[in-house]
Amino acid sequence: MEENIRIPSHVSIIMDGNGRWAQKRGLHRSAGHVEGVESVRACIEAAVETGVKYLSLYAFSEENWNRPESEVSDLMNLMAKSMLNELSAMLGNGIRFIVLGHRSRLDAELNARIDECMERTKDNDRLTLVVFLSYSGKWDILQAAKRFAVELADHPERREELLSCGPEIFDGYLVTKDIPDPDLIIRTSGEMRMSNYLLWQGAYSELLFTDVLWPDFRKDEFRKAVEAYSKRDRRYGKVK
Ligand code: IPE
Ligand code: IPE
Ligand code: MG
Repeated sequence: MEENIRIPSHVSIIMDGNGRWAQKRGLHRSAGHVEGVESVRACIEAAVETGVKYLSLYAFSEENWNRPESEVSDLMNLMAKSMLNELSAMLGNGIRFIVLGHRSRLDAELNARIDECMERTKDNDRLTLVVFLSYSGKWDILQAAKRFAVELADHPERREELLSCGPEIFDGYLVTKDIPDPDLIIRTSGEMRMSNYLLWQGAYSELLFTDVLWPDFRKDEFRKAVEAYSKRDRRYGKVK
């Protein structure tokens, strides 16, 4: 990798193309998901090595609940298993693990495991790994708006203050409140859409689309993406 490049603080990935990777090899779609876990491992390592502080991964969308039941349960089982397998590595490598999304839709056992991993890694600070599970951008904005409305109703004395709030205050109602907005959002597999991902938080993210399927997206691809990011000119609407 080139030296003196600008490293994004938060890299986010829409991990897509597992099914096509498997189908190309005459395998069941779930084989693609299993192989995709290796790419997750590789990107975590690459993120630590390049100095990225936040790596977030879109692992399962609210819309993905509409997939066949067997695929949903394969994915949930893989999630639970990978979390258990990776816990000691996360502890050893200083990784703080966070899951964000519509957690009440997940089963109790998986939720308990997530809570345990989050609790045991909460003091780590080398890399924060955020897994978006049962997440969608619209769901997040809506749950934030509902909580805001409840606060407004419960505190009439704060009406003026709450109604004059700007986006920085509203940020605090989103599930990502403690996570900086992504600098770079990568989507694999050639699709060029957001699929209801970080709609609010991605307002000024740099976007990078690659044809590489997620199970083939390893360290080199991650480094190439960071290099490409460092050449982007982020203007935020201003004139330079
Ligand atoms: C991404 O791969 C994994 C999830 C969305 C859970 P896909 O399963 O969407 O793979 P393709 O897009 O069908 O190839
Ligand atoms: C987006 O991928 C969701 C995740 C990667 C978790 P999908 O494969 O579900 O998205 P669409 O259906 O192609 O938009
Ligand atoms: Mg897909």
